[in-house]
Amino acid sequence: MILAGGNGTRLRPITNVTNKHLLPVYDKPMIYYPLNFLAGLGIKDLILISGREFAGDFANLLGDGSELGVDITYKVQEKPMGIAHAAGIAEKFAGGDSIITILGDNLFYVGKGEKEAIRKLVREFDAHPDGAYVFLKEVADPERFGVAVFGNDGSIVGFEEKPKVPKSNYALTGLYMYDNTLFEKVRKLKPSWRGELELTDVNNAYVAEKKLKHYILKGDWTDAGTFDTLVKANVIAKEISDKEQK
Ligand code: TTP
Repeated sequence: MILAGGNGTRLRPITNVTNKHLLPVYDKPMIYYPLNFLAGLGIKDLILISGREFAGDFANLLGDGSELGVDITYKVQEKPMGIAHAAGIAEKFAGGDSIITILGDNLFYVGKGEKEAIRKLVREFDAHPDGAYVFLKEVADPERFGVAVFGNDGSIVGFEEKPKVPKSNYALTGLYMYDNTLFEKVRKLKPSWRGELELTDVNNAYVAEKKLKHYILKGDWTDAGTFDTLVKANVIAKEISDKEQK
């Protein structure tokens, strides 16, 4: 599933008149990057979840997905009630299966070898889904992100949201694999102090069951949700485009 709802408050005033994921990032609309990334991993059956106001724009842009080699189902999140709330909307689409989730404002740029490694991980998880997989990236400024906290055995014991004193340098990226218990976990969530259903609480529920694994990304990654990261995203997007042209 590709999550492309939300408020986009940090990109105002641009997002007063359009959806963040439709903004240009170098030579394509932002949404192409997570979509192409999933397609490159062999995931061709996609559900795109967006707010009501701009849902038609996504359909105009992407159609049934065939031009991009994928099959797209669309669903509306009536109100931006959080990332986990948006994820819950995919329950019928998942139909009892596991599901891979990507945030619509995330760009990943991985080399050929790493792409193959992630593909393998996806295939294995899909064959025997049990728990969750998160993808981490080592960053210089962890205080800006959701940060993994590791136990003595190297497994993740929890996550901290934008910690002032981070316990690691490993940020949570916007790529996750969940078994089908995701949906019952979402149903049990209570809104956070900001009134949203938080994916962090879902991930912590998997941690509590000792069912959360992680993969550390070697390639490049950024979100594009602030003006600064949008600049970074443009730079990565140009690298992707230049590489494709070679
Ligand atoms: P965020 O960047 O955390 O939130 P946002 O997009 O609303 O932006 P801002 O914080 O500037 O207001 O969301 C990460 C991704 O999750 C984003 O690509 C859109 C998606 N999302 C939803 O699909 N539904 C939601 O209710 C929220 C909050 C986010």
